[in-house]
Amino acid sequence: MKRLKIALTKGRTEQQVVPLLEASGINCDGIRNKQRRLIFDEDPRYEIILVKGPDVLTYLNNGSVQIGIVGSDILDEQQNSQYAMLDLSVGKCRFVLASTSDFDPQAHRRKIIATKYPNITKRYFQGIGEDVEIIKIEGSVELAPLIGLADAIVDIVETGNTLRENHLQVYARLQPVNTKLVVNRLALRQYQPQIKQLITNLQRADQQSGQSNLIKE
Ligand code: PRP
Repeated sequence: MKRLKIALTKGRTEQQVVPLLEASGINCDGIRNKQRRLIFDEDPRYEIILVKGPDVLTYLNNGSVQIGIVGSDILDEQQNSQYAMLDLSVGKCRFVLASTSDFDPQAHRRKIIATKYPNITKRYFQGIGEDVEIIKIEGSVELAPLIGLADAIVDIVETGNTLRENHLQVYARLQPVNTKLVVNRLALRQYQPQIKQLITNLQRADQQSGQSNLIKE
């Protein structure tokens, strides 16, 4: 049988998802000791590649991989209609509007908002009927209101540590974010038994890890 190709978002998603993949019976020794490697085939059933979040969808849309594991923030930003098959319990966080304590969300002048997610930001402000200028930046978004680049930011908050350590506060809570397993529609037909098996195993591992988290609390 042909290996199922999985594009996994590297970084935080990878760190949270690898224990789940292992709990579902997938050998991830290569990823655990990866250094600069990007392709992992320790498990004979799968070929796992590590890529940046937005690129997961490029590989998936192009048919180079059959499965993607990616945050819903990326799917929302790209307004992608990829087939989401499974919601994982890891990577739960939320979009917020945040700024310094002297920010006035009611101020009438046209605000400048910095973000890695211009589409999500545009839709949020359109939804509340406010016209804003959006500046796209690539990271360390919290800097923008501190250094005077923007009045506020739209960004993801997980633990809240980054906001706290930079003395920023939340002015509005936007949509939640979680990690999703998405499948290329064509692959769903071609690899149905393998995909079904992967999803069943992952779902079970995810539920069990949720239970053990509960016990720990
Ligand atoms: C994300 C996000 C925040 C941070 C929030 O950045 O953009 O900066 O995580 O997490 P926290 O609430 O747990 O502190 P990321 O770590 O992806 O790095 P970046 O600054 O390069 O975007």
